[in-house]
Amino acid sequence: MGLRIVMLGAPGAGKGTQAETIAANYGLPHISTGDIFRKHLKEGTDLGKQVQGYLNSGALVPDDLTCSIVADRLTQADCAAGYILDGFPRSQVQAEALTSLLDKKGEQITLAIDVDVPDAEIIVRLSARRSCAVCGAIYNLKFKAPKGEAGKCDRPGCAGDLIQREDDKPDTICQRLNVYHETTEPIIAYYKEKGLLHSVPASGLTPDQVYGEIETILKASKTV
Ligand code: AP5
Repeated sequence: MGLRIVMLGAPGAGKGTQAETIAANYGLPHISTGDIFRKHLKEGTDLGKQVQGYLNSGALVPDDLTCSIVADRLTQADCAAGYILDGFPRSQVQAEALTSLLDKKGEQITLAIDVDVPDAEIIVRLSARRSCAVCGAIYNLKFKAPKGEAGKCDRPGCAGDLIQREDDKPDTICQRLNVYHETTEPIIAYYKEKGLLHSVPASGLTPDQVYGEIETILKASKTV
């Protein structure tokens, strides 16, 4: 049957943090389009060169390119029992493309979880976000600092340097929030109409508290 989850929410709302925990607890692949693009960027692939300008300026990568990458990823064997999509879909075109891709396979999204956090809180979070250059673990200098040596990943056996994302600079954060409100937020209504939407008001909650809300939703879903 499979559990196919779409994580919705503004940049910095905590989609990646929550998707990581769901993935670990339910044994599902965490598919983040942002992570896929950043990996290509880091490796200097052709795709990386194509998307660099969009990522660094906070604009969306064109829909056709993004949809074809996701369609390809979903054909991989680890997606057979479900997956968590983080950062996709991000426009009406992408949402409809995903529905039609799944329709062809006789499948559908199980749940769309919207992590709802006000812009002012997001700006504070993103300015303090750091991630491990080696394993990608997400930290926050204010809310989730590494427990060991400052500036180093504390995952066992990693110790990678913590870096700031290029798009977490103040001007780019504002641009990403504008793009979110204009292009991505409207797809919340798309999933609401389909009866798949679950909103989690996450302002002021710790990551564990947000996960508690999400777990209640997952347990109430007939597929878990
Ligand atoms: P992407 O990587 O998807 O970035 P995003 O949506 O902007 O989301 P973020 O990764 O910034 O935030 P998040 O919600 O995952 O929050 P996180 O858990 O890290 O996309 C980057 C770019 O790629 C886009 O701008 C675009 O160019 C391109 N792209 C990607 N997908 C695309 C698509 N589908 N179409 C077109 N283009 C696409 O948490 C943020 C911080 O807050 C962390 O430091 C974390 O530790 C902290 N935190 C988390 N939860 C809490 C909490 N409850 N309390 C306090 N702090 C918290």
